[in-house]
Amino acid sequence: MKRIGMLTSGGDCQALNATMRGVVKGLCNLYDDVEIYGFLEGYKGLIRNNYKLLKPEDFSGILTKGGTILGSSRQPFKLMDQPTEDGINKVKAMKETYKKLNLDCLVVLGGNGSQKTANLLSEEGLNVIGLPKTIDNDLWGTDMTFGFQSAVDIATAAIDCIHTTAASHNRVFLVEIMGHKVGHITLHAGIAGGADIILLPEIPYDIKSVCKALEKRSKEGKGFSIIAVAEGAISKEDAALPKKKRKEKIANRKYPSVAYEIADQIKETCGSEVRIAVPGHTQRGGSPDAFDRVLSSRFGAYAAQLIKDEKYGRLVVLKDNDVTDIALSESAGKLKYVSPDDSIVQNARMLGISFGDE
Ligand code: F6P
Repeated sequence: MKRIGMLTSGGDCQALNATMRGVVKGLCNLYDDVEIYGFLEGYKGLIRNNYKLLKPEDFSGILTKGGTILGSSRQPFKLMDQPTEDGINKVKAMKETYKKLNLDCLVVLGGNGSQKTANLLSEEGLNVIGLPKTIDNDLWGTDMTFGFQSAVDIATAAIDCIHTTAASHNRVFLVEIMGHKVGHITLHAGIAGGADIILLPEIPYDIKSVCKALEKRSKEGKGFSIIAVAEGAISKEDAALPKKKRKEKIANRKYPSVAYEIADQIKETCGSEVRIAVPGHTQRGGSPDAFDRVLSSRFGAYAAQLIKDEKYGRLVVLKDNDVTDIALSESAGKLKYVSPDDSIVQNARMLGISFGDE
């Protein structure tokens, strides 16, 4: 009999269910008897001993189902050493739940912050395996997280829709795409959707360069332009501010989000009228695409084998198209950013896409 705890933590994404299904299918191939303790709403369930005892059948029919059958919540890593509002010591409580249920392993489906907590629990002596989730694809150590491709598909479809209406009306459009700290989704969807300008947190823009790129297009007789902008895109001027000041400025800006601010800057600088589209959380919703179904199923099956091999404290990752594993401690606390030197950025520049920086 194997007793496995499982939880989905942080912002949800497509393929959380598909990944859990992969783990359980793999375990059922390896063991005659498996009990799954599904903690509800991420680490909150582990802290509060709130779980569902699930059977392998509960993981049937969920390959294509978006969201998570366990629910999710954000429990920031930086607050893990602070008690809950009703005085519970979080780390102690999580260890107690694990021990009380006599678990063989805890499987954590989560992004950067969640895997930091997974690493902490592993260092505290629990058997933990991490599975790399997030639409942002910013988890260090894996070439790809599950959820990313599905989000890119949705963001691309949004740009496609905007393309046709922008062309009919000869308009400039900003499409704001998820990613506060990293721009992987915006970069990929921008290229896939044929955006003319891509603005990323990692490549600060100069509004004059953005306008120069817009003017170049109109001189070439192109009546419309599409700007794919990441939620965390930042101007050169703001990027040069000390971190505290920059955060304050962003927190106090009068605009609902960055696209509205850039729209105003464009209007002031080059007079173009700009429309805005924000697909928002649609990017995290719906069914996983085929790529994510394959990736998450492979990740899940691999995690089951790690459990069989009693290889704990590991994060399942994709490296050069192969599913493998690295130490949770190796990834914890590091983000995978877009580098301006990445070949994909260079390729995009060769296609004539502007990053608003030249
Ligand atoms: O981390 C995933 C993510 O979707 C980011 O891209 C986005 O900025 C953020 O979560 C949105 O978070 P929330 O669900 O709290 O609105």
